[in-house]
This record gives sequence, structure tokens and C-alpha cells, in this order.
Amino acid sequence: MSEGPEKLIRVKDVAKGYRIGSHEVEVLHGINLEVREREFISIMGQSGSGKTTLMNLIGMLDRPDSGRILFNDVDITGKTQKELVEFRRRTVGFVFQQFHLIPSLTAYENVAMPLVFAGDKDHDAVASALERVGLAHRMDHKPVELSGGEQQRVAIARAIVMKPKILLADEPTGALDAATGLRIISLLKSLSGDMTVVMVTHNRELASYSDRIVHIQDGNIAE
Ligand SMILES: Nc1ncnc2c1ncn2[C@@H]1O[C@H](COP(=O)(O)OP(=O)(O)OP(=O)(O)O)[C@@H](O)[C@H]1O
Ligand SMILES: [Mg+2]
Repeated sequence: MSEGPEKLIRVKDVAKGYRIGSHEVEVLHGINLEVREREFISIMGQSGSGKTTLMNLIGMLDRPDSGRILFNDVDITGKTQKELVEFRRRTVGFVFQQFHLIPSLTAYENVAMPLVFAGDKDHDAVASALERVGLAHRMDHKPVELSGGEQQRVAIARAIVMKPKILLADEPTGALDAATGLRIISLLKSLSGDMTVVMVTHNRELASYSDRIVHIQDGNIAE
């Protein structure tokens, strides 16, 4: 593969295991993966194959046991915890199967949370993020007053409000019906015009909307 700045994410020989009782079980055996800027990729693989583990490593929520992860040629594996928190806040947005919205807050307030945590007083980005996901007209609604698809849109608006370079979506349609799930995938595809999107899905049809599908099999990547 060509070297160059257009490769936003480089996962190099990354191994990761978990300690269970007294023994260590390795889940990822030396993964290599490169993702371009504004690429939309799907990660597929059996339950327990290590998809979420890989997402957590790319999202800097966890560290590899060995190997390196680079963003725009910056090696993040050497960063301190404090540096990582700051880097992650500016670089990555997360979306999950369960939307993880705060029930007592409106859509607007939920989307504003990352700005509040960052100490950013300028909340103009909230309205534009909600517009981007097609929910400007629902900003005063609380999660219970929204459909599942709308709740996931709010979660996506929250994930993009800091204008991340990477959006990580771990089974974003897992809790939605087929038609609603497809609309969420269309939204992710349109967002990939501005940012790299890495999605985990069990659904082959939904995965086919992405630019590329990679499979995790026996702890390795099979494209
Ligand atoms: N914190 C942890 N401690 C110990 N084992 C873990 C931990 N997290 C994951 N595992 C194990 O690592 C393996 C991979 O888990 P992971 O969650 O990455 O799989 P997955 O591909 O996302 O599966 P699913 O499709 O079910 O979400 C599994 O065998 C799991 O039991
Ligand atoms: Mg998972």
C-alpha cells in the first residue's frame, strides 16, 4: 500500500489480549489495517472475534499490548493518558448500538455535552450538528419523546459536534428495524464526505453501502 498523508489511520501489527483469571487470552494477533481520509469502512466478523476490541483501540479507549496505531503519522501508542484524552476529544466521535443519551436532557442538551466537557462556551455547533442529522425540528425533545432512529440521530449529532476526523460506529443499527437502520447507514455515508467512518455491523447488506469491508477472522484481518 502507498505511504502518504491520505492514510488517516494506520494500525500496525497490533496485538491485544485480556487477562481472564490467571491466564491471558489473545484476541487480536497482529492486526494491520490502513484507513484513508473520508473512507467509509465496515468491519465484520463473528461475535467475539474482536471487532469492539479493535474499535476501542482505534478510539483510544484502550491500548494495544504490542504494535502501533498512528493517526496522520502521529504514533498515539506513546502518548500519556492525559494527552490521549485531549487527542481523542478532538479526533474521534463514538456511536453505539444503545444510544446512551441522557434521559433528563433534551436533544439539544445531549448534543451539547461534549462542548460542555471541553469547556467550550460557543454552542453554535449544536444546531448545525442537529441540522446535519435532520433533527433541527426535534431539538427540544427528550429521548423518550423520540423514535429509536431519531435517538440514534441525536447520538450521531453528539458524536460529530466536535467535528472529529473519525467517526466510530459499533453496530449503530443493532437496535433499529431494517428500514430505519438503512436510513442511519445513508446518513453515515453522507457524513463520510467530511470524515472517516469506521462501522461494525453484522449485516452484510448494510455493509455493502460502505467503500470497503474488512473481516476479522481468527484474530487477523481478512479483506
Ligand atoms: N474487558 C474484557 N475482559 C476480558 N475479556 C474480554 C473483554 N472484552 C472482550 N473480551 C473478550 O474478547 C473477545 C472479543 O470481544 P469483542 O467484544 O471485541 O468481540 P466482538 O467481535 O465485538 O463481538 P460482538 O459481535 O458480540 O460484539 C471475546 O471473547 C470477549 O469475551
Ligand atoms: Mg462488539
